[in-house]
Amino acid sequence: MTEQDLKPLFAAAAANLVFNAPLGEERAADLVRRLAPAGADRRALDLGCGSGELLRRLCRAHGIAGDGVEYDPAIADRARAATTDLDQVTFHTADATTWTRPADVVVNVGGSHIWDGTAPALAALHRLTRAGGRLLFGEGFYRTVPTDEVREAFGDLPDLAGLARLAVDAGFRPLHVAESTLAEWDDFESDWRAGIEHVGTPQARAFADRRREEYLGGYRGVLGFAWLILMPA
Ligand SMILES: C[S@@+](CC[C@H](N)C(=O)[O-])C[C@H]1O[C@@H](n2cnc3c(N)ncnc32)[C@H](O)[C@@H]1O
Repeated sequence: MTEQDLKPLFAAAAANLVFNAPLGEERAADLVRRLAPAGADRRALDLGCGSGELLRRLCRAHGIAGDGVEYDPAIADRARAATTDLDQVTFHTADATTWTRPADVVVNVGGSHIWDGTAPALAALHRLTRAGGRLLFGEGFYRTVPTDEVREAFGDLPDLAGLARLAVDAGFRPLHVAESTLAEWDDFESDWRAGIEHVGTPQARAFADRRREEYLGGYRGVLGFAWLILMPA
């Protein structure tokens, strides 16, 4: 399948998700609580924000304003459409690598590829997190040694200890380190594929079949997803 064929299928998958990451409601609420900013006039920033749901919840919960930056115009439009007048959130259709204004609560979930990998992402995000602020970094890692196929699909990722070390090397102190549960992963993968099943074409079904095999027969339990709350040292 060409990139042209895949784009609407990825869009259908994303449209069926609340968060485009293995994130359940309980953890989402916990992370929002942990990210409570201290002091007045604080601002949030979500780079690669997708639907913007986490940013909206964060800003609503703490009564702060925020910016979401999303490269894909259709996804950014969807984020705006879900935003009410009560939300103090602005969505920018832009490349996150061009964003220069730091914030107090910075979010980057499943978006390290924006800077071509974990270490450069952490370096860029450090520059954008104000002193005393927090970064929520949601990132993949290997829970066990991957097969060649899994490594080819997801690249050279660290283990969880290595990921925390990369954060320290980038100038952060890890305040919270956790990983998505298998149940969060199973729900995420199922909801992702269900979005594609709704398309209903033979091509969509073949794509959903491939993804199901890759997950259940390949990276399930091998690829982890970490939730790091980081403070600039
Ligand atoms: C895996 S999704 C995660 C979305 C969101 N953070 C979430 O957890 O629901 C990654 C998002 O980053 C966006 N993205 C990719 N490259 C980008 C860039 N250079 N600037 C801004 N957004 C980008 C994609 O369009 C996609 O919506």
